Amino acid sequence: IAYQQGAFSNEKIAYDDEQVGLDDQIVIHFSHVVAENTPKGMAAKKFAELVEEKSGGRIIVKVFPDGILHSDYDELEALLDNEVQMIAPTTSKMTSRLPSWQVLDLPFLIETNEELKAVLTGDLSEALLEDLSKLHIKGLTFWSNGFKQISSNSPIVRAEDFRGKRVRTMDSGIISQQFEYLHADPVPLNFDDVYYEIQNHLIDAQENTISNIYSKKFYTMENYITLSNHGIMAYAVMMNEEFWNSLTEKDQQIILEALEEMQGWQFALAEKVNEEYLRKLSNEPDVKIMKLDEENKRQWKKAVSPLYESYNKKINGNYFKMLLEEIG
Ligand code: LMR
Repeated sequence: IAYQQGAFSNEKIAYDDEQVGLDDQIVIHFSHVVAENTPKGMAAKKFAELVEEKSGGRIIVKVFPDGILHSDYDELEALLDNEVQMIAPTTSKMTSRLPSWQVLDLPFLIETNEELKAVLTGDLSEALLEDLSKLHIKGLTFWSNGFKQISSNSPIVRAEDFRGKRVRTMDSGIISQQFEYLHADPVPLNFDDVYYEIQNHLIDAQENTISNIYSKKFYTMENYITLSNHGIMAYAVMMNEEFWNSLTEKDQQIILEALEEMQGWQFALAEKVNEEYLRKLSNEPDVKIMKLDEENKRQWKKAVSPLYESYNKKINGNYFKMLLEEIG
């Protein structure tokens, strides 16, 4: 098959390589749900470039952004069926299958980029990746998208401002409970439904990173943004296990080296992109950006504090301990 030059930059590469007839060519389909101009979108492209370069054009990574191939709801199924070979969902989206992964959904624990980096590269991250083998998935690494903020159609600063609000969340028990403790009404939704739901006034608020709020234009309908940094967003980069096992050791090495080489760059990118889009948002005349002050942060934290004990006691005390150690 000769690919036409399409929407994705690496399709052209696939075309060229098929022309030269590389008979041991490997094509990896990488599906994700966010825009291309985001920390995950750019990382997926960078990964494709590095792998192509390191393999001399033999391994092609075709990236499908914006949920055009699969939404949140079915990308994991598509990975398990080897319809796509790679995805990088948020850790939160794995928690219905791996409840221990909710450790990264606990609010207000990881507070700085340094702490986030330490957690995503330390022993806990290794253990989390290893958990994926229970699902017959090869866990490769973590990417970052920094910290979650609140965007809403009316100001939310005090804990009581959440009362009665319908808040879109990713599908994770602890994230839902967090909003229940704040007397809001959590609404777990696929990422690609969020725009429609805001537009049709079906939800009042959501938590997300600035890069997602900006690139998906949520701010055009939810004008209030509260810089709360109350939680983190991390991506687990993973591959279909059978596909991984079918690769030669040399090709596995190429993939691991590419990911390792770009990890520092990816963490820095997440910070930079979120900062840059925040600057752009602050220039939008209709957008009102508020900061969560110390007193209100104390109130939010107090409201959600039972989550720590319940994760520690009922879900995975060991992971909880590891997280606390890694953030110092
Ligand atoms: C969301 O659903 O809000 C995010 O998980 C999207 C993403 O992958 O960044």
